Amino acid sequence: SVPSAPADWADLIRDVPDFPKPGVVFKDITPLLASPAGFAAVVDELVARAPERIDVVVGMEARGFIFGAPVALRLGAAFVPIRKAGKLPAEVITASYDLEYGTETLAVHADAVRPGARVLIVDDVLATGGTVGATAELVRRLGAELVAVTVVLELDFLHGREKLAARGIDQLTALR
Ligand code: PRP
Repeated sequence: SVPSAPADWADLIRDVPDFPKPGVVFKDITPLLASPAGFAAVVDELVARAPERIDVVVGMEARGFIFGAPVALRLGAAFVPIRKAGKLPAEVITASYDLEYGTETLAVHADAVRPGARVLIVDDVLATGGTVGATAELVRRLGAELVAVTVVLELDFLHGREKLAARGIDQLTALR
């Protein structure tokens, strides 16, 4: 059944224990997406927090696409996808970050953002900050201006905010 919107859309983000492995509590946004009122409320909040004159909204595969695309439309901005390596067809630049086991590589088209463009990064969850850090690096290497990073949910206990600040990325806002 499709849930109706509770007083706070954040109550529609479901904790799933032991996914993807024992001891991890996964933040599942699918009940939020299944609520038109809840989804609209979170997009409204992302739009309300956006700085003035954003040219480009950058969203990361896969869940950053879901929130970034409607925000871009509402702002009248371009939407640029950041993808896992090997998915984009034209010339790319890439950035890698460490996972618990191994590394992840993100890619963006080399011509996706014009130099000097004002960029807003949008994603669903900030955990360790690896994804946002690599994305911010790509935005900078494209010569764009990273104006803000907005995430729906920040997992404070993983200290992603501090790790990003140590890399000079201090434009972070979390809705919750
Ligand atoms: C999740 C989430 C963020 C990222 C946060 O994506 O959507 O993008 O992890 O983690 P971090 O701050 O530790 O980098 P995931 O890599 O699972 O990709 P998916 O959305 O394609 O499942």
